[in-house]
Amino acid sequence: MTPIQETIINKKTTNTPIWLMRQAGRYLPEFREIRKLNPNFINLCLNENLSSEITLQPLRRFNLDAAIIFSDILMIPYGLNQKVEFKKDFGPQLGLLDLDIISKVDEIDFIEKLYPVYKSIKKVSENNLIKNKNLIGFVGAPWTILVYMINKHSPKKHLIKNFFKDEFLINRVLIILEKFLKLHIDQQIKNGATVIQIFDSWAGLLEEKDLPNYIYIPTLNLVDYVKSLNIPVICFPRGLKDYINYCDIVKPDVVNIDYDVNPISICKKINIPVQGGLDPKILLTDKENLKKEAIKYLEIFKDHPYIFNLGHGVLPETKPDMVDYLVKIVKDY
Ligand code: CP3
Repeated sequence: MTPIQETIINKKTTNTPIWLMRQAGRYLPEFREIRKLNPNFINLCLNENLSSEITLQPLRRFNLDAAIIFSDILMIPYGLNQKVEFKKDFGPQLGLLDLDIISKVDEIDFIEKLYPVYKSIKKVSENNLIKNKNLIGFVGAPWTILVYMINKHSPKKHLIKNFFKDEFLINRVLIILEKFLKLHIDQQIKNGATVIQIFDSWAGLLEEKDLPNYIYIPTLNLVDYVKSLNIPVICFPRGLKDYINYCDIVKPDVVNIDYDVNPISICKKINIPVQGGLDPKILLTDKENLKKEAIKYLEIFKDHPYIFNLGHGVLPETKPDMVDYLVKIVKDY
């Protein structure tokens, strides 16, 4: 068993494993070098030689317990033939959402379009660097993908006006997303992903009353699906006020907490393994402070199954040396 499986399945609380969201990315000079020559982000994700290499880059440097496949949650609208572009210093920009177009996509078209992602997973899974480690596949939660498909870019603090106006459209898109997210999960697992993480980055935008329809039910359907394939599933409902209720209803194998969550109260009240929490901005401070903050999480979770990670992705300004130091702190604890 891998260290992460020991934590999730055997509920082991010693030798805390570690991996980091966005561990492959702009803070690594070797990534920036490839990125410079590949200005089109989607095409980079669809280049299986480069995307598999980028996935492995952090493992060449640091003693991490998992790789996460270099791709994006927005490969789903892309696979459904909605236009997706990544603009420098702006982020994702999607084209018009046309129900007629996305309804016409079938499983074969979709798999064909995303085929390089699956081939990349296969390549990574066959690499020696991943031995006794996990390869994390992922999807965006239906809600977060819906946000991008309708809102067309990252919402700053709130959604566009009239977001919920077209109920028919929203319900149809959620049905389509469920089908293709399951397919995407299935293909990732078939090609070597050994854990699935579900990112719900915009969970925090919803009011309490809307959580069942847009978060609990659609996510539970995916969680049950991953479990039926005998693969552990980690959920990250970023910004949610009530992680406890979420865990009671959605029942992921592991929950990733964001940095606004009080780790002490979560540790007391949640009986499933926990992942993450440390504010990525701590990696921009100094080693002494990083050590203090990392040890804080390790101490709080010392008798609770815990996978070390952050409360959101590694920031582009992070020095690789700080990541190296963090991994060493966790491994030496
Ligand atoms: O190392 C990894 O974590 C694996 C790859 C990964 C990426 N995106 C690559 C990426 C993963 C797991 C994601 C998930 C993702 N993508 C989420 C959920 C997690 C989160 O951050 O909340 C979301 C919301 C997206 C959508 C997205 N993709 C945004 C908003 C942006 C632009 C902002 C940013 O963070 O750069 C992206 C681009 C993106 N996805 C980059 C990377 C490495 C940066 C691309 C670049 O300009 O080089």
